[in-house]
Amino acid sequence: MDKKVTVVGAGNVGATAAQRLAEKELCDVVLVDIVDGLPQGKALDLAEAAPIEKHDAHPTGSNDYAASANSDIVIITAGIPRKPGMSRDDLLSTNAGIMKNVTQQVAEQSPDAVLIIVSNPLDAMCHVAYETSGFPKNRVIGMAGVLDSARFRTFIAMELNVSVENTTAFVLGGHGDTMVPLPRYSTVAGIPITELLSKERIDALVERTANGGAEIVKLLKTGSAFYAPASAAVEMAESILKDRKKILPCAVYLEGEYGFNDLFIGVPVKLGANGVEEIIEITLTAEEKAALEKSADAVRELKELLKKLS
Ligand code: NAI
Ligand code: 2OP
Repeated sequence: MDKKVTVVGAGNVGATAAQRLAEKELCDVVLVDIVDGLPQGKALDLAEAAPIEKHDAHPTGSNDYAASANSDIVIITAGIPRKPGMSRDDLLSTNAGIMKNVTQQVAEQSPDAVLIIVSNPLDAMCHVAYETSGFPKNRVIGMAGVLDSARFRTFIAMELNVSVENTTAFVLGGHGDTMVPLPRYSTVAGIPITELLSKERIDALVERTANGGAEIVKLLKTGSAFYAPASAAVEMAESILKDRKKILPCAVYLEGEYGFNDLFIGVPVKLGANGVEEIIEITLTAEEKAALEKSADAVRELKELLKKLS
C-alpha cells in the first residue's frame, strides 16, 4: 500500500491498533517490540487473518527499527501499563526511559513521520518524544482526548438510551484525574446535554469519565484498557493518512494558545496530512478555564519531575 504505519509496542494497545489499521486497509503495518518473537508472531498471525478479513496491509514484525524505515506515522505504545493501585504518574520514570530510547530510533529511521504518542503518563511522554525527536510541534501528537471523549460519549448514550453515533463530546486537559470534560460542548443529535440531563447526572457522568481508565484497570486487574485506546489512536492516524482534517481533542504543544506555554495538553485540533494543522481555541467559562488550569498544573508538575529524573 502507499502508506506505512509502524506501531512500537506489540502489547495490548499496539497489537489491537495494528489489527484495526490493517482491517481498515489504511496502510502497510509494521509492529516493533523489544521482546524477541512477539512482534513477529503477532504480525504473522495478523497476516494469516488477512485472506479472511480481505486486506493487503502486509503486516510484518521486527525487533529492529530498520523495519520501520520511512514510516508516514509511528504510533508509540511501548512501555508498562497500569496495575491496580498504580496511577498513570507512577509509570513516569520507567516509561520516560523507554520513550527516549524508542523515539531516538524511530526519528533516525523515519525523520518525516508524524508521531502519535500513547504511552503513559501521556502528556509527559509527549514532552519526552518532542524533545528527543527534535520534530516540529505539528508532528508530535498525544492520544488521550479522543479516548476520554469516546468514554464520555458512551456514558451519555447509556444514560439517555440513544445511539452512540448521535453523541459528540469534548474532553480537554491532561490525561489524568484532572481531565476536563466539557458538557456545554457535548451533544446528542446536536442538542447540548445540559438541555437533556440534570446537573447531578452530568456530574456523575463526568466523574465516571475522569475515572474511566481506572474503572477498566480495576476490572481487568492485570493491565489497562486497550480496545478503545487502539480505536482512538487509529482514528487520529486515519485523519492524517487520508488528510480528512477531522477536529479531534489531542495533546499538542502549546505556545500561547489557551494561555499556556511550553506545555503539551489536550485541546481541539485539526488533524490532516501535516499532522496538527490548526489548534482550535474555543471560548471557556471561568469555571472551565479554572479546571483547565488545574489540569495544566498537574502536567507541569510531571514535567518538573521529568527534569529532576534526567
Ligand atoms: P502492554 O504491556 O500490553 O504492551 C506494552 C508493550 O511495550 C510490550 O509488548 C512491551 O514488550 C513493549 N515495550 C516495553 N519496552 C519497550 C521498548 N524499550 N521498546 C519497544 N517495546 C517495548 O501495555 P498496553 O496495555 O499496550 O499499554 C501500553 C502503554 O500505553 C502503557 O504505558 C499504557 O499506560 C498506555 N496507555 C495509554 C492510553 C492513553 O489514553 N494515552 C490508553 C491505554 C494505554
Ligand atoms: C486509560 O485511560 C490507562 O490511560 C489508560 O485507559
